[in-house]
Amino acid sequence: MKDRRKRSGSSWGVFFFWCAFVLIFFAAFNFSAALRRLLFTEGFHPRMVTKWNIPAMEAISAEKSGTPAISVRETVIFPDEALVFLKYPPSAALFTKDDINCIYLLPNSSQPQLELSPSSVDYDYGNHQIVRCPLQPRGLILSVAVKHNGNLTPGPMHRWDSLAYEAMIDRDNSTIVFVKGLNLRSGRVADSSRFKCLYGWDLTKPKFALSADAISVAQEIVRCRTPLSILNRPQRFTSSSFNDSIKVSVRVIGQRTLNSIARVKRQYGSEQLAREKQHELCVCTMLRNQARFLREWVMYHAHVGVRRWFIYDNNSDDDIEGVVESLVGTSYNVSRHVWPWIKTQEAGFAHCALRAQDSCDWVGFIDVDEFFHLPSGLSLNDVVANASRPSEVAELRVPCHSFGPSGLKKVPMKGVTAGYTCRLAAPERHKSIVKPEALNTSLINVVHHFHLKSGFRHINMNRSKLVINHYKYQVWEVFKEKFYRRVATYVSDWQQERNVGSKDRAPGLGTKAVEPSDWSMRFCEVKDTGLRDRILKTFTDPKTSLLPWEDHQPDERSKIY
Ligand SMILES: *[C@@H]1O[C@H](CO)[C@@H](O)[C@H](O)[C@H]1NC(C)=O
Ligand SMILES: *[C@@H]1O[C@H](CO)[C@@H](O)[C@H](O)[C@H]1NC(C)=O
Ligand SMILES: *[C@@H]1O[C@H](CO)[C@@H](O)[C@H](O)[C@H]1NC(C)=O
Ligand SMILES: *[C@@H]1O[C@H](CO)[C@@H](O)[C@H](O)[C@H]1NC(C)=O
Ligand SMILES: *[C@@H]1O[C@H](CO)[C@@H](O)[C@H](O)[C@H]1NC(C)=O
Ligand SMILES: *[C@@H]1O[C@H](CO)[C@@H](O)[C@H](O)[C@H]1NC(C)=O
Ligand SMILES: *[C@@H]1O[C@H](CO)[C@@H](O)[C@H](O)[C@H]1NC(C)=O
Ligand SMILES: *[C@@H]1O[C@H](CO)[C@@H](O)[C@H](O)[C@H]1NC(C)=O
Repeated sequence: MKDRRKRSGSSWGVFFFWCAFVLIFFAAFNFSAALRRLLFTEGFHPRMVTKWNIPAMEAISAEKSGTPAISVRETVIFPDEALVFLKYPPSAALFTKDDINCIYLLPNSSQPQLELSPSSVDYDYGNHQIVRCPLQPRGLILSVAVKHNGNLTPGPMHRWDSLAYEAMIDRDNSTIVFVKGLNLRSGRVADSSRFKCLYGWDLTKPKFALSADAISVAQEIVRCRTPLSILNRPQRFTSSSFNDSIKVSVRVIGQRTLNSIARVKRQYGSEQLAREKQHELCVCTMLRNQARFLREWVMYHAHVGVRRWFIYDNNSDDDIEGVVESLVGTSYNVSRHVWPWIKTQEAGFAHCALRAQDSCDWVGFIDVDEFFHLPSGLSLNDVVANASRPSEVAELRVPCHSFGPSGLKKVPMKGVTAGYTCRLAAPERHKSIVKPEALNTSLINVVHHFHLKSGFRHINMNRSKLVINHYKYQVWEVFKEKFYRRVATYVSDWQQERNVGSKDRAPGLGTKAVEPSDWSMRFCEVKDTGLRDRILKTFTDPKTSLLPWEDHQPDERSKIY
């Protein structure tokens, strides 16, 4: 009897202990959910997390009970892979690559014929995730399974070569639709009377779609007058809104309507149309697997006056998220935007210019191996302000100096600017700094030159005032990778024998990835230590003699490279 009571007493203790544990556990979960909701806005860049606060099972099965759940929103078929866009309920943590499998189903079957690992899983703004899957065998339908938990219903599948893929409502209330497959001539304005925009939830049912006139059509960017009923819909893009926004597509009159995954949303930040722009100078860049150059590039440009960096990430699989996060953590305003679309560099720059127009007076379009150099020692703001004093000047064209390996055989520890000091004598091409509101409504840009509105003009900068140091031919180890990975976007594949004479190739290198014996001495015509001297003078820590982007642990470093 006594024994029994004692035992039951001790099991009550255990029971209370467990209750307390469970309570704390749930409190912690709710707190993290609340925190995430608070942070899950534009500008915040969620990281993959390995735990989720809505268990996957629950989130998936919730579909049946009518509450929103994780689902396949769309699938886009590229020539060499497929992207599955997942939609998440608000505050649900994201799955990692290890939680997800690509599954391949026969039509009308729920039993996968094949199950493969995704090549990557990335996130986009606002509760979306992009899963990259190997292409499906003929006749099979692609979807995604969350391991040991369940298969998601396949979403609509679209081919990339005929698709409206992004859309945005501009300041003047027109809709800009980015499309693939119109096959218009580059750099030319097309006859906009041949095109319409279509708005609706399901564009395969034209009866339920709203149609609007195109204002301008050029280079696979279509601008339409947005119907009032679309403009006046309440704008809800926060994570608390489950409902998808309306889709928009483009119709070639008398022919066809492109498929669409493009949702109508107002451009970021236009709610507070500021009288005064927040930043004088911003930069847009597109990159792939160049995270290791980012710290130096951002820190240096902050020093000369850049305040905001828009990074369009074309499928990086290095640690770019970590690097961006650490820069944001040290108060650089850097954001990463997923841009998985292929051969769309011009469209990406137009997209970035639109995003930047509300907060930036000027936007530079440069790569992460390009650095604005001011031989006079002035800041970029001073030079831009002075050069644009005639108010019709809306584009500064800055010549580029191409640097060579400068005798180096190994990646320079102090970064590219302090490492490479020998270059070709003559400048090669140029990059632009533009005033986004002066861009022509067509948004045409060819090789970094935007067409301007009439009444505006460009000026060419004198390279003794402002020049770009382009670290184009770095040590072989870096250069080789750059071309392997096809970041040189103008040459589709450097191993093809096409475009052998292109300026984007290394002259005399041919098409083989074999290090020429004299590589380190090539492209060296004049010694140019201007930027190196400025960097060492400005950034060297007097105690450690290190530059701020220099790695403090050589061991770690060898892992990175
Ligand atoms: C199979 O799916 C198609 C649509 O893909 C549908 O039209 C057809 O009715 C389905 N057949 C069966 C037996 O469910
Ligand atoms: C854009 O549309 C909104 C909502 O209809 C309206 O309030 C605003 O005045 C419009 N802006 C312009 C520039 O037409
Ligand atoms: C939500 O989406 C459905 C279509 O999926 C649409 O019919 C409905 O009007 C939308 N509701 C709101 C409030 O936007
Ligand atoms: C970064 O810039 C954007 C505008 O482009 C602005 O809305 C945001 O508040 C800035 N963030 C910080 C932390 O300054
Ligand atoms: C992104 O990289 C891929 C190679 O993975 C390339 O085919 C594509 O054209 C690139 N996109 C842009 C916009 O540069
Ligand atoms: C400012 O611009 C004028 C031409 O508009 C030029 O003559 C002058 O050298 C510039 N000054 C500086 C400091 O760049
Ligand atoms: C845009 O450029 C075209 C020429 O390409 C010109 O006819 C048109 O007037 C420009 N648009 C504006 C708004 O200035
Ligand atoms: C650029 O400036 C230098 C020195 O200020 C001058 O000698 C040169 O003529 C200028 N070049 C051009 C093309 O204006």
